[in-house]
Amino acid sequence: MTAATLVCVRCGAAHAMGYAGSGCAHCTGEQAANLAVHHTDAERARWDFKAALRRPAGVWRYADMLATSGQHPVSLGEGGTPLIQLHRLSSGLGVDHMFIKDESRNPTNSFKDRLSTVAVTHAVQSGIDTVATASSGNAGASLAAYAARAGLRCVVIAAEGAAGPMITQIRKLGAQLVLLKRKEDRWPLLQAGVERERWLATSPRRAPVVGSLPLGVEGYKTIAYEIAADLGHAPDWVVLPVCYGDALSAVAQGFADLLAAKVIDRVPRLVAAEAHGSLAEALRGGHDAVRAVAMQEAALAKSVGASQSSYQALKALRETDGVAVHIGNDGLVAAQERLARREGLFLELASVMPLLAVEQLVHAGTIRPSQTVVCLGTAGGWKDSDVSTQEMPPPAVEDGTVDEILVRLRHAYAAP
Ligand SMILES: Cc1ncc(COP(=O)(O)O)c(C=O)c1O
Ligand SMILES: [Zn+2]
Repeated sequence: MTAATLVCVRCGAAHAMGYAGSGCAHCTGEQAANLAVHHTDAERARWDFKAALRRPAGVWRYADMLATSGQHPVSLGEGGTPLIQLHRLSSGLGVDHMFIKDESRNPTNSFKDRLSTVAVTHAVQSGIDTVATASSGNAGASLAAYAARAGLRCVVIAAEGAAGPMITQIRKLGAQLVLLKRKEDRWPLLQAGVERERWLATSPRRAPVVGSLPLGVEGYKTIAYEIAADLGHAPDWVVLPVCYGDALSAVAQGFADLLAAKVIDRVPRLVAAEAHGSLAEALRGGHDAVRAVAMQEAALAKSVGASQSSYQALKALRETDGVAVHIGNDGLVAAQERLARREGLFLELASVMPLLAVEQLVHAGTIRPSQTVVCLGTAGGWKDSDVSTQEMPPPAVEDGTVDEILVRLRHAYAAP
C-alpha cells in the first residue's frame, strides 16, 4: 500500500481519497472523466518488483502498488492467471509469438475479480455494509462473490436480456438482483442507492460514462505486472476487449508503473477491440471526448455491448500509440470455436474479440509477424453459452449399432 492520491485523468485535479462522487468534480458534461489513483514517480521508482514476485502469486502480491491495504484482503485466490502461447492459432495467423492471458481462471470465471477483490477489501476497511453495481453480468457475479466472502450485502442491477448463466451465478451467490426492463434505468437507481442508502458503487453510474470505482480499477494493473513477469519483458502489443475501458486504462497504468520501476524499457501498444466503434471514431476524428455511436446491430458480445466508451480509454490508447478496432458480430462465434477447437480454450464471445482484432491488424500490416502479441481472454465460455449456442443444433441422439457409430465417427474425423 502506498500513500496515493486520486487525480482526474483529464485535468489532473486532485481529489480527497474519500471523495465519493463518480468522476472528476470539475470535468463535467462532454468533458466527463474518471479519477485514477496516482502514485508518484519516486514511489514507482522505489517499487521492488522482484520482492513482489517472491510473495504468493495473485493480485495481492502487488499490494505495494495499490492504494488499498493488502493486510487483510478479501480474497478468493484471484490473479496469477496463465499466459498461454497459441501455437496452432498463431501459425494460421502468421504471428510467431501470440499469447492469451486466460482470465477465466479467476474465481468467478472473469477478470472482474481483480477489481472486486480490491473494491470489497476497501469497503470492509471503510466500514461500508453494502456494495452495488450496474452490470451486464460479469461484474455483478464477481462483486456478489466477494461480498459473500466478506459478509457484506450486495445489490446487482441488471437489465432484461442479460446472459442467463451470469444471472444464475449472481443469484446463487446471494446478491439482491434487480432486473430492470431498460438498460438505461440502471444508473439512476444505482446513483439513488449511493445517495440514499450509502451503497458503495463499484461500476459506472452516470452519463456520459466515466468508468468504475478508481480504487477497484487499480486492481487491473496487476494484469500488466503478470504479463511482464511471465514474459520477462514487455510485449509489443496487448489486445483487450473494451467497453468502458477500466481494464484498458489500468493496464496502461500498470505498464507505466513497470517502466518507472525500470522493470521494462518500453510500454506495449494497446489495442481496444470494441463492439460498436466509439473509440475508433474518436481517434479518427482527433476528438477530445468519446461520443456514442449508432449501433448497427445488438452486440452478440453482450458484456461489451455499450455504444460509448470513456475518456480514460481514449487517453490510454493515445498514450500508448494504440489502436481501436471495431469487431461486429460477423465471425465471432466462429472465432470462439476456432480458439476452443485448436487450443482447448473455451472463452466468452467478448473475450475472443481480440483474436479477430489481431487478424485485422496483421492483414493491415500494423502488427508484424515477428512481434509479440498478448490477447486478454477476459471470461469463460459458459458465461454467455445461451447466446453462443443459439445457432448450434442440439446433438442428435444415436440409435445405431456400435459398428454404425464407429463408421460415422471415421467419416466425421476424415472430414476437413
Ligand atoms: C468479458 C468482458 N470482457 C470485457 C469487458 C470490458 O471491460 P471494460 O469495461 O473494463 O472495458 C467486460 C465488462 O465490461 C467483460 O465482462
Ligand atoms: Zn478533471
